[in-house]
This record gives sequence, structure tokens and C-alpha cells, in this order.
Amino acid sequence: MGKIRLDKYLADMGLGTRTEVKKDIKKGRISVNEEIVKSPEYKIDTQTDIVLADGKEIAYEELVYYMLNKPQGVISATEDRREKTVLDLISDKKRKDLFPVGRLDKDTEGLLLITNDGELAHNLLAPKKHVDKKYFVRLKTALSEDNRKQLEEGVDIGEDKLTMPSQVFLLNKEKDEAEIIIREGKFHQIKRMFHAVGNEVIFLKRLSMGSLVLDENLLPGEYRLLTPEEIERLKENA
Ligand code: URA
Repeated sequence: MGKIRLDKYLADMGLGTRTEVKKDIKKGRISVNEEIVKSPEYKIDTQTDIVLADGKEIAYEELVYYMLNKPQGVISATEDRREKTVLDLISDKKRKDLFPVGRLDKDTEGLLLITNDGELAHNLLAPKKHVDKKYFVRLKTALSEDNRKQLEEGVDIGEDKLTMPSQVFLLNKEKDEAEIIIREGKFHQIKRMFHAVGNEVIFLKRLSMGSLVLDENLLPGEYRLLTPEEIERLKENA
């Protein structure tokens, strides 16, 4: 990423607000390559400079990626005055520029990628890229074979065109639990698709997005950093 101001570097890494870190800098608590630096505008090379705060190394992380198992009852936004957001759940975050990649409804659970990588987010969300998204659904009534096929071929959800082809797999003999893979991401898309065939989604959970699969060890509300392999694969196929 090249060079950034020392105060931004420290604030980005969660040492405090810009005003707070400026005070720390002026007090001489920060060194760069073993020399005390007292000017907040001093330019840091994030690749090569070694920054210490009170003698402790502060490494610069440019891009961060979390996988969250979104619980019901929180909204997919960065901040909100009234409602709890998915960002409120990431308690160890250092950076202030994180955002969720796409939206899950307030009552939807499951995989949500949270990052500050705008380019990856764009590639995953761009309608033309048709990234696969897999969901688990529990339905109000059994899904008939006709309706299952209709969903796979495309249904009218009130947009200009029918939905794009999807895949729907029933999971139980009652035929009220299914997995569905879609390649679009319209507002309330899954709920509207089942509504279009006279059914209703009573529980919805996202299981995967592109190559990224929800970690089964994460309970709703829990999160972890992506592994380097997960990040690499996501970038490859996005
Ligand atoms: N489709 C929906 O209807 N809701 C979601 O949260 C995601 C996909």
C-alpha cells in the first residue's frame, strides 16, 4: 500500500482515535526503526518500517477478513443508532473501515464475510459475476416436485425477468427442508422465490458464498479470521 502517516497507521491498528494517537506520538511513546518519532505526519512505509508503541511492535495489517455466523436479530450494516449490527459482534476488530459483504435479512442466519477489501467485495457482489450462494431453508409447507422444478428453472418475483436458474435439493421426507443455490442476490431473493411458488420460508441460513463455506464450529454470533488459503481461493474465483 506504500506510505501512510504515522497517526493514521496507529489509528488504523486500533491504538486509539487520531487525536489520541497524536498525543501518544508527541509524548515520545512511538518509535520508527528504533528512533523516537514525534511528528504525527511522519510517513511510514507499511512494508518495511518497524513501528513500536511503548516498545511493543505494531504490525500493519492492510486487509482483514472475518467469517461471521450471523445470528438472527442483528442487521447487516456497519452502524445503527437503534439496532445491533454485525460489526458490533466483531469485538476484537482493530480497523474502523470494515463492512459486511452483502446483506442478510435481520432474521437470516449464517455466513457473512466482513472485510475492508473493497475490491474483493465488489467482485463477489457484482451482478455479472454470478457468484454461487448456497442457503438452507425451512419451509412452511412441503415443496412439490413441480414447484421445485419451477424454482430451478426461474420464477417471477416481480422483476423484469424471471430469476436465473438455481438448484434446489430437498433434505427430508417431509419435503420442508432444502438447500438452494442461487447466482443472483436480489433483495429478499430466497423468500420471494419461495413465495412465488406459494410457499413461505420460515428459517433461512446462508451456508456458502463462492468458495467460502461457513465453518460448522462457529455458533450463531461467533466469528473467526479467514485462513490464508480461504482468502486466496476467494480471490481466485471472484
Ligand atoms: N434471500 C433472502 O430472502 N434473505 C436473505 O437474507 C438472503 C437471501
